[in-house]
Amino acid sequence: MVYTVTLNPILERTLEVEEVIYDDVNRVVEERKNTGGKGIDVSRVIKELGGQSIAMGFAGGYNGLELVGRLVNEGVVCDFTKIHGESGAYITIYQRKKKLQTLLNTPCPAISQIESDEFFRKIQEVPVNSYVVISGNPLQNMNDNFYAQLVTTLKEKGVKVILDADGEAMKRGAGAGPYLIKPNIHEFGRLVEKNVSEVDEIVEYAKPLEEKIECIVVSMGARGVVGIARGVHCHVTPPKVNVRSSIGAGDSLVAGIVFALSQGSTFEDSLVLGVACGTASTLNPASGHCTKEDLESIKKDVHFEKI
Ligand SMILES: Nc1ncnc2c1ncn2[C@@H]1O[C@H](COP(=O)(O)OP(=O)(O)OP(=O)(O)O)[C@@H](O)[C@H]1O
Ligand SMILES: [Mg+2]
Repeated sequence: MVYTVTLNPILERTLEVEEVIYDDVNRVVEERKNTGGKGIDVSRVIKELGGQSIAMGFAGGYNGLELVGRLVNEGVVCDFTKIHGESGAYITIYQRKKKLQTLLNTPCPAISQIESDEFFRKIQEVPVNSYVVISGNPLQNMNDNFYAQLVTTLKEKGVKVILDADGEAMKRGAGAGPYLIKPNIHEFGRLVEKNVSEVDEIVEYAKPLEEKIECIVVSMGARGVVGIARGVHCHVTPPKVNVRSSIGAGDSLVAGIVFALSQGSTFEDSLVLGVACGTASTLNPASGHCTKEDLESIKKDVHFEKI
């Protein structure tokens, strides 16, 4: 089974108006809602691939109730830890006439020690040999060691952790020895504290990490991924496509990799599926969504090369 962790799921709401008239009542002509979050995007893509996952994290208040309800309606199985605070909301106001969008973000909720303990209790129940994907960064008020503790707890239980984070959380989390990490090239540069732009630099700078981390996958946008596992170094490149939005492409890549690994695929094959998912998601304007049809056609043109 695959579990995904989104510590800060967001209820996204888009309100379209002809134009905003200040100090007056404005009629909303269209309203859309969605549940956002990197782990959640991974769960959605796994579902599109025909797999199953359980989405975990923290959710609270009416935003939390609604976002979990929406996910369940989409067919994503959820096991969020209920919190006292209100889950975050992103409200986008789109003015049709001026083609202007304004984003209003509510603050992310605080997590109490009791709530954090409850989340760890659920984590303790994840069965051995499962995969847990940890995506995105911890909440502002969280201890910098939160991911490191999570990785350590899961690793001790024989669960394989896939970590996709940035900055201090990635540094400390990677230090705890997850099974796989998926930084993009900029995040990788911050992790190894080097300027990185070329494939051979990735291979070189990843060396010290290989002791602790079985699989290292560095994504490079249109240049695909470099994968490093047990002495195997490879470069997997997608075909050229007409990109509509590359936001969340990394989440689709992670979904393809973890889905394939959980089905028993080799590391090499999982990278090919991952790259196809990542690139397929760039054809879709919504963040981190890909269709099976797109990815099947792209997969045929994904190039795999040992380096
Ligand atoms: N411009 C592009 N053309 C083709 N494929 C792309 C492009 N951008 C991204 N991809 C695909 O998506 C994968 C992940 O992309 P990227 O390196 O941009 O991830 P990321 O920076 O972690 O994204 P995010 O954090 O927004 O989800 C790439 O390996 C590739 O397969
Ligand atoms: Mg990313």
